[in-house]
Amino acid sequence: MSKTIVITGGAGFIGSHVVRLFVNRYPEYRIVNLDALTYAGNLENLRDIENAPNYSFEKVNILAPEALDKLFATWQPDGVIHLAAESHVDRSILSPLDFVYTNVIGTVNLLNAAKTHWKGNFEGKRFYHVSTDEVYGALGDTGFFTEQTKYDPHSPYSASKAASDHFVRAYHDTYGLPVVVSNCSNNYGPNHFPEKLIPLFINNIIQRKPLPVYGDGLYTRDWLYVKDHAAAIDLIFHQGKNGDTYNIGGFNEWKNIDLVKLLCRLMDTKLGNEAGTSEELITYVKDRPGHDRRYAIDASKINQELGWKPSVTFEEGLSLTIDWYMDNKEWLQHVTSGDYMNYYDLQYSKR
Ligand code: NAD
Ligand code: DAU
Repeated sequence: MSKTIVITGGAGFIGSHVVRLFVNRYPEYRIVNLDALTYAGNLENLRDIENAPNYSFEKVNILAPEALDKLFATWQPDGVIHLAAESHVDRSILSPLDFVYTNVIGTVNLLNAAKTHWKGNFEGKRFYHVSTDEVYGALGDTGFFTEQTKYDPHSPYSASKAASDHFVRAYHDTYGLPVVVSNCSNNYGPNHFPEKLIPLFINNIIQRKPLPVYGDGLYTRDWLYVKDHAAAIDLIFHQGKNGDTYNIGGFNEWKNIDLVKLLCRLMDTKLGNEAGTSEELITYVKDRPGHDRRYAIDASKINQELGWKPSVTFEEGLSLTIDWYMDNKEWLQHVTSGDYMNYYDLQYSKR
């Protein structure tokens, strides 16, 4: 094997697409998937590649420094692509400390493991931290987040991601750790956990349950198909400059209510429903506290320097995504059994 790469959070939504891409595209690399398998981690996401000769899974929690130490000693990784995190804003409002532990302390544990094991010899090494556009705060009706936009996080989730980004850059500036950071907009696609807007609403439409739109529904997000994010991560990991940051976005802004109506229309067609059937499920509910009004990424740096751009249109990506959920009802059933309903009741029963 020419390189060993540890991908953290590889059993989650984006991580599983990154693991699959690397395992298939780089048979000469050993890919080690490090994941604690929280409620969001699911090895079913990786069934198709789990027996690949260049793939290994390690059930490790980034909150356990000794386990990280052992993993680094065993695998001697050349690179780390760090996606493991608590990732849902609503859960961060219910339970902020979980986000401080995993996103901040977990990231510092991982930085320490890389620093200790690479022992100042950084030739051929890379620590890639995957972050979010939410660290930049909220936009008004105009403007975009660039790599120079000042951090202004509003939710416990975005505050914890902002803190982790600062630690990654501090390890670069203080210890010379070869790091690269990317900040991406909202992803969607197969394997997305049905607590986030698009998969939650697909699941609720299938089950004819209410579609809880927060506030006035005019909040705007910039949506990117998950495989396009994975392709950007591949490019940045291999060609990004040490110490640099890259913004990744979909050039694809949608107000929530317009997106929900599009989803309803597409699903009515696919389910053979009469037009308008799913829209009847739309229910306006109490707003998310601290809700950021608009996100939009200026992705010109990654476009101009690395030649990246999204490969699918939103309608194509959304259609592929709906098809995936309709073809994988068993997956949906598995991830929505157990604790899922406890969270659902806590989050939505009093709205
Ligand atoms: P996810 O919640 O689907 O998956 C997170 C994964 O991390 C899970 O497999 C989980 O088991 C694992 N994990 C959680 N805590 C862990 C711990 N303590 N130790 C080891 N593993 C742990 O998340 P996602 O949506 O795939 O996001 C992945 C990364 O990308 C996150 O860092 C997130 O902040 C970032 N990001 C997400 C989006 C998005 O739209 N989903 C956009 C931009 C950036
Ligand atoms: O911008 C990148 C971020 O996108 C990632 O860093 C996060 O990990 C990811 O979860 C996502 O955060 P959002 O808060 O934007 O995504 P979510 O799917 O939770 O919500 C999208 C929009 O839809 C947001 O304006 C809130 C709204 N919403 C969400 C849910 C779950 C609703 O109106 N109703 C809902 O039930």
